[in-house]
Amino acid sequence: MAASPLQVGLAGLGTVGAGVIRLLAANADLVAARAGRPIAVTAVSARDRHRSRGVELNQFAWEDDATRLATRADVDLVVELVGGADGPALTLARATLGAGKPLVTANKAMLAHHGLELATLAEETGAALRFEAAVAGGIPVIKGLREGAAANRLARVYGILNGTCNYILSRMAAEGLEFADVLADAQAQGYAEADPSFDIDGVDAAHKLALLSALAFGTPPDLTKIDSEGIRRVRLADVRQAEALGYEVRLVGIAERVGNSLAGRVVPSLVPRAHPLASVTGPLNAVVAEGDFVGRLLFVGAGAGAGPTASAVVADLIAIARGETGPAFSTPAAQLEPLPAAGPAERSGRFYLRLRVADRPGVLADLTAILRDSGVSIESLNQPAGGADGTALVVMVTHECAETAARAAVVRMAALSAVAEPPLLMPLLTTEE
Ligand SMILES: NC(=O)c1ccc[n+]([C@@H]2O[C@H](COP(=O)([O-])OP(=O)(O)OC[C@H]3O[C@@H](n4cnc5c(N)ncnc54)[C@H](OP(=O)(O)O)[C@@H]3O)[C@@H](O)[C@H]2O)c1
Repeated sequence: MAASPLQVGLAGLGTVGAGVIRLLAANADLVAARAGRPIAVTAVSARDRHRSRGVELNQFAWEDDATRLATRADVDLVVELVGGADGPALTLARATLGAGKPLVTANKAMLAHHGLELATLAEETGAALRFEAAVAGGIPVIKGLREGAAANRLARVYGILNGTCNYILSRMAAEGLEFADVLADAQAQGYAEADPSFDIDGVDAAHKLALLSALAFGTPPDLTKIDSEGIRRVRLADVRQAEALGYEVRLVGIAERVGNSLAGRVVPSLVPRAHPLASVTGPLNAVVAEGDFVGRLLFVGAGAGAGPTASAVVADLIAIARGETGPAFSTPAAQLEPLPAAGPAERSGRFYLRLRVADRPGVLADLTAILRDSGVSIESLNQPAGGADGTALVVMVTHECAETAARAAVVRMAALSAVAEPPLLMPLLTTEE
């Protein structure tokens, strides 16, 4: 006798939701064979019932209120692709897991804010909570950490977690364009949102890093433990100076254990050309994880888009159809232990420092005196040709120093009348990282 289908209620019929419907139609036989039973959408919900979405919806029941999907008798499992940390997505997630039904979501914002609550609820009711699509789109990094690397203590997990930022930085480098010009073009072409702040200010990458940290270190997802800084202040000159030093500029999210605390940050960084992250260009994402037995793992692929994200959503559906179980964040929710946040005082490294200063004698001496007084020594200093506006760029690379010392020096430099705009400080990664 043929196995009964896994009946799916799908909330959100935008980029990812429509992609899921397309994938399930195109690969129905293969998905059924691998899942051990057909996977069939039975009911859907979105805001506008009449919007054309390029997919046939007539065969599905429609719910104006997505929450009702959770209690329908013909829905075994809910896929939430609405988005947003709170609001209808969270109401639906609570209703679904509360009803003891599995939930698949791509919603990193919701999980970064409410992951512990939802994982706890899932375990209480015995329902699966899966979110492969929430981090790095199509890349199976959640499965990789949750299952493949489950036997390891992870020292560090980091990577390029936002495709929009990587696309912008790559195009700045390849085409010699300034940040604002690439952003405007990316928006015109639909690669960047009309309000791009979540992406370019590092918020989206911080959401994903919070989820990776939870998986890697057995902590509850906690955004307050992650310092984030985006790429708005990176100029073409920084990209070119980095290249001259043998580095590429990338927005990197890094989470690591420092003693008994957790250091998490999203920051534009100089990545050495020999590092695997340096060759990750365009909208791709990449995640590196370091385990005590497995060593360094590298995951690379498409971090967004209808096809890759739908691929990750349906992989979760197949896993649930197969009966795969286990805690959402690998460690049971009740055993997720918060770690104190490591601040800049516990971090050290080499730093790239760029300043725009008045092009007059004595300024350089003032800057180097501040660094000396802050206990920061300079490994290299470059002064590219001055601008026509009477200012000049000064680019320095520090020796290894405490981040607090470098930051304190930057604050003092910014207060000098000769410093024309806030200095930019970026950490340098090493090839060992
Ligand atoms: N796009 C990607 O490449 C990508 C990658 C990874 C993860 N994600 C995540 O996937 C989720 C969906 O992203 P998306 O890009 O597909 O978003 P989207 O294109 O904006 O689609 C959102 C969908 O949610 C529907 N919706 C909004 N409010 C609703 C409500 N109250 N009840 C029911 N439906 C509602 C919208 O309906 P209408 O169409 O009628 O307006 C729309 O169909 C987000 O959490 C996002 O972070 C996206």
